[in-house]
Amino acid sequence: MAGPKPLIAGNWKMNGRLADATKLANTVSAFVRALPSTSADVLVCPPFPYLAPVAQALAGSRVRLGAQDCHAEAAGAFTGDVSADMLKDSGCSFVIVGHSERRALHGETDAVVQAKANAVLRAGMTAILCVGETLAERDEGRTIPVVASQLVGSLPANANSENLVVAYEPVWAIGTGRTPTVAQVGEVHGAIRAGLSKKFSDGAKMRILYGGSVNGLNALELLAIANVDGALVGGASLRADAFETIVKAAPRR
Ligand code: 13P
Repeated sequence: MAGPKPLIAGNWKMNGRLADATKLANTVSAFVRALPSTSADVLVCPPFPYLAPVAQALAGSRVRLGAQDCHAEAAGAFTGDVSADMLKDSGCSFVIVGHSERRALHGETDAVVQAKANAVLRAGMTAILCVGETLAERDEGRTIPVVASQLVGSLPANANSENLVVAYEPVWAIGTGRTPTVAQVGEVHGAIRAGLSKKFSDGAKMRILYGGSVNGLNALELLAIANVDGALVGGASLRADAFETIVKAAPRR
């Protein structure tokens, strides 16, 4: 059975300046325009201050806009934070939640991540929920239980294949140039699929992205693995040529 249409998402993290962001958005928009409609869905997630200008650069394009994080509350005294509704106003239709950099560097627990995912769904957007094991957890043979427990703790209750995407990002593969083997990716994605199918009526159609050192050279192999429905790309999404190669490597549906 053919899976869902792949999604290739670029997480720009805290990189580039305004001119870089709008130039990259224009370039991505141009190469996506030249692709057939059966090619992958494409998403870019710039830093907060550049959402509005990137939205403007993407106007009329089928490239979607996403944010890298949000606050769980709708409004209030949360200095420096941004609500899901504000992101929607800025042109976003996706928000990444629970990225390992947020979990590790900002102490976000599964409960916090779940509250953020719920906020994204309430605002009418799609949450990209990130999970993944550390190297120590993998070496201890705990990858599957760790990922399962992150999912149990952070999946929003009212999720469906339209408003939820799961991203499997092994922490040790992020920004390191190391990727898991095809068998390792297949095992984890298969386990995530089984969990989603058990919990949600359309879990079989939910997109499960792989993230961690995806590049123009390994994308074809990674995107061909069963239950890999796209990629969450960090470093390589900042280079338009590499990002284009990854988008073109996704199966057409
Ligand atoms: P890299 O592609 O740079 O390894 O980053 C992956 C990532 O964290 C995407 O969210």
